[in-house]
Amino acid sequence: MIVYFSGTGNSEYCARYIAKLIDDEVVDSAQYIRKKQIAQLESEKPWVFVTPTYSWQLPKVFKSFIRQSGLSGNKSAYFVMTCGGSVGGAASGALELCKEKGLRFKGLTPIVMPENLITMFKAPEPDEAAKIVEKAIPVIEKAASLIKDGKPFEKLSYNFLSYLGSELSNPLFYKFAVSAKKFYATDECIGCGLCEQKCVMGNIAMQDGKPKWGDNCTQCMACIARCPKQAIEYGKSSKGKTRYVCKAFEG
Ligand SMILES: Cc1cc2nc3c(=O)[nH]c(=O)nc-3n(C[C@H](O)[C@H](O)[C@H](O)COP(=O)(O)O)c2cc1C
Repeated sequence: MIVYFSGTGNSEYCARYIAKLIDDEVVDSAQYIRKKQIAQLESEKPWVFVTPTYSWQLPKVFKSFIRQSGLSGNKSAYFVMTCGGSVGGAASGALELCKEKGLRFKGLTPIVMPENLITMFKAPEPDEAAKIVEKAIPVIEKAASLIKDGKPFEKLSYNFLSYLGSELSNPLFYKFAVSAKKFYATDECIGCGLCEQKCVMGNIAMQDGKPKWGDNCTQCMACIARCPKQAIEYGKSSKGKTRYVCKAFEG
């Protein structure tokens, strides 16, 4: 079973692409996360967890989703992590998680996809984004083929510095950068409620026709990137920046 977490569609795209190649089913973790439901899942085939990289680690919310879920059946687990550049030392966190869950860690594959974190960086323009996705396709196909054959992913070569970077930067990132406090809707907002529907955390509620953010944000970028009127901003950091959503799943 392929279980994914995705804010702007990159990881969903990879999850569905792999599912097609290995003829497996796909589950969106957000359907449980939004409702704060514990999932009870069963899979005959290996588990394939597909997720974005958040500050060189698995997103905390997805990690706790996996930690809390009942996962019965197959005992092997693959991790496929989309990223804008690097997954850092994320493999060690995934390995620890497998130990906790009694799963056999079959490796972690990074897939470089377009950057979506526009509260800090720039997302690529559509042409550039399309080229990045095209380059990712053989990497996705290779991962799918290894999963199909039951072979482990290649061991990731990362140095001690990248591991240390992940360990140090991740807690600081969550402490200082992950918050909904700076999100707001401008006068362009038409009150369509798409942001509320797309919030993977169930953290947005429409009030008087405008979105209001709660305090359970993971900064997945779904709201700001998917707004049809570009009416969501994050303080001044997002002003004038291209919003990125993986085209295959736009809407
Ligand atoms: C909160 C946050 C933190 C991120 N941290 C990293 C990172 O540490 N390294 C990296 O290469 N990309 C990072 N990115 C970029 C995403 O991992 C990348 O664009 C991913 O493909 C987005 O997946 P999605 O579209 O499925 O949400 C980050 C994005 C977000 C939203």
